[in-house]
Amino acid sequence: MPWDELTPRTFAAFEKDLDGISKQTMEDHYKLYEGYCKKANECRAILKELDYSEIEGNQVYSPLRSVSVDYTFALLGYKNHDLYFGHLGGDGGDPRGAFAETVEAEYPGGLEMWQQAIRKAATAARGWVMVGYDLNDGSIFNYIMDTQNLWAVYNMVPVLALDVYEHAYTRDFGATPDGRKQYVEAFFRNIDWDHVNRQLLQAMGAREGAQRVGVEEVGKVGAESPEPQHQPSPN
Ligand SMILES: [Fe+2]
Repeated sequence: MPWDELTPRTFAAFEKDLDGISKQTMEDHYKLYEGYCKKANECRAILKELDYSEIEGNQVYSPLRSVSVDYTFALLGYKNHDLYFGHLGGDGGDPRGAFAETVEAEYPGGLEMWQQAIRKAATAARGWVMVGYDLNDGSIFNYIMDTQNLWAVYNMVPVLALDVYEHAYTRDFGATPDGRKQYVEAFFRNIDWDHVNRQLLQAMGAREGAQRVGVEEVGKVGAESPEPQHQPSPN
């Protein structure tokens, strides 16, 4: 964990008039993001000052346990909104580029199936839908997250973050299931697919790099197989 302080970033989406998502919603939402940043920093400061030779480690309750768990809530509140705000402000439309190609190739029903799947995931999640690229097998999945720190998996790199907490849409669309559906459509009208594609290509590059390192390591120990050491693992 880095021990320095996080700072809230600025996002292009706040300089634009989004289609259907009001400036007031965005400004209120940003205050939540700032709050997550502040609390993540508070947790870091506490974890920095603890005397690990003296403190109690207790699985029922201990300050170490509490601050460590709540740190993940605060930090992922920061990170998830960082991605969410980052890819708003675009011209929407259907997915394109590497993201569209990957989804089209992977989903049995192609891009159309994914488009339906993420909309249903948005009605089934209590907090977030995180579209993530798996560094192990190169797959993409719509992770339903009930809070920002629950139900994602290891080695998943987020490429698209859809916030479905009520604070993201109640002001503009009402706190109803239909309001949420209208908000999700507005979200996709404002998404910047270039930003999503940059996230995805970065994750793909990281996977490629890991596999290349695997080949080099095998070569060093004299193995004959040209296959990468880090094979995709079945999930
Ligand atoms: Fe949010």
